[in-house]
Amino acid sequence: MAKKIRIRENTEIHAPIVKALKTAYDNPTYQFHIPGHTKGLGTLKSFRDLVGRKALKVDTTDEFDNLGTLNPATGPIKEAQELASKAFGAKKTFFLLNGSTIGNLAIAMGLTKQGQKVIVNRNCHRSILTGLIISGADPLWVIPEKFSNWGLWGNIKAEDIEKLLKENKDVSAVWITNPTYEGVVSDVKSIANVCRKYNVPLIVDEAHGCLWNFSDKLPETSLKLGADIVVHSLHKTGGSMSQSSMLHISKESKINVEDVERSLMLLHTTSPSLMLLGSLDASRAHLQSKKGEKQLARAISNAKYLRSEIDKMETIHQLKPDFGYKTDVTKIFIKADGLSGKRLESILEIDFGIEVESASDEGILILSNLGNKRSDFEYLAQCLHKIDKHDYKDIYYLENKKHMPMLTPIIKKNLRDAYFSPKEIIPKSKAVGRLSGEVVAECPPGISILLPGELITEAHMPYLTDYDVIEVIK
Ligand SMILES: Cc1ncc(COP(=O)(O)O)c(C=O)c1O
Repeated sequence: MAKKIRIRENTEIHAPIVKALKTAYDNPTYQFHIPGHTKGLGTLKSFRDLVGRKALKVDTTDEFDNLGTLNPATGPIKEAQELASKAFGAKKTFFLLNGSTIGNLAIAMGLTKQGQKVIVNRNCHRSILTGLIISGADPLWVIPEKFSNWGLWGNIKAEDIEKLLKENKDVSAVWITNPTYEGVVSDVKSIANVCRKYNVPLIVDEAHGCLWNFSDKLPETSLKLGADIVVHSLHKTGGSMSQSSMLHISKESKINVEDVERSLMLLHTTSPSLMLLGSLDASRAHLQSKKGEKQLARAISNAKYLRSEIDKMETIHQLKPDFGYKTDVTKIFIKADGLSGKRLESILEIDFGIEVESASDEGILILSNLGNKRSDFEYLAQCLHKIDKHDYKDIYYLENKKHMPMLTPIIKKNLRDAYFSPKEIIPKSKAVGRLSGEVVAECPPGISILLPGELITEAHMPYLTDYDVIEVIK
């Protein structure tokens, strides 16, 4: 099979923002502009010592030092976006600050309208719902498979989307999340074919799948499977700094690029961090370099190593791609007999100094990342072997809270109307039977427990143990 992208021979490949930042760093000017810490001198010494003077010297925003602008993209930022669009095979790529969250908000604002229906998987990230509250479009829920034994949402079925499209002639977009946080992959190709048949655009929140473009051993990216628009959190797994993401529009898409660009312009900060933008540029260049290619191959091989060790354990089990659905091998979801995910997470943290990506009711999520060494995984495997042999007990009194929202909603009112309705705050004990006035979605995974306009039932209570009061519609 052909390589998904062409890896360049040289290890350092062109990264225009990084280059422009270096030039600015090497040629400092007398600075009478923001940011007011003025290359780190105007801030707390202990902070400066911690992050380093160099980092603060390159903490600048657009307009200055020939670095170009983000909105609209000019100079090195424009060039870096173009290189990214080439690398990902997109018609157009936008760099995002404020994460994939702003990408989802801009898509909702630019491409959906008040009263339109949008098919969305119920386990979507709350940023999509915030976007729909802003635009006023109505989510039409598609309920993915539920992997009950794992306490996880599974894949989205093309048949379910087709059924909704058949029953609703006025759907303006299909918006899916692929993969799930835990790495479960849907058949995007079939979903894209269905969308094409019904002539609706397909939006894919691929926040957790930005590495797929760079390895044949990972699932195929939605951009290549027929999605119109895709959001990637490069900061999650791609190696860029926290909050930095990308939004890609496919070459084949009929979506109006300006509609998205205009929304991004309205939503973005007017003081973009060049350091974050530079880290996006660096991450793309790194993934295209030999070194990046090696690190990604190592991440995949480390994941396979850990998975083979887990296979030897008696009481610890892993979510595998051989249960009739596909998964991303670098996301390893495990569960231990007799232990909740939260308890397993705390054993690893307190007894072994290990911090994992997240824990839910049944298990924990481990990410095999670009920067991890084999020895990290050997240590983790050793600790898991110890847990496997040791008789750890769950501490039930800590575990009476449910974390992974898996309920099918009872919708009584349009999302936006409900959000803007008069509301009151009441004790949780009186909430059953009322309509939620707020988005209740804890991160991770950022999936909704309750949305404005949904009926609160007894089934919600185990998710709300930390709440004394709740906002409901009057
Ligand atoms: C599926 C999904 N989409 C979007 C987001 C938002 O991403 P970001 O944190 O980059 O804003 C998340 C965050 O966890 C997510 O899991």
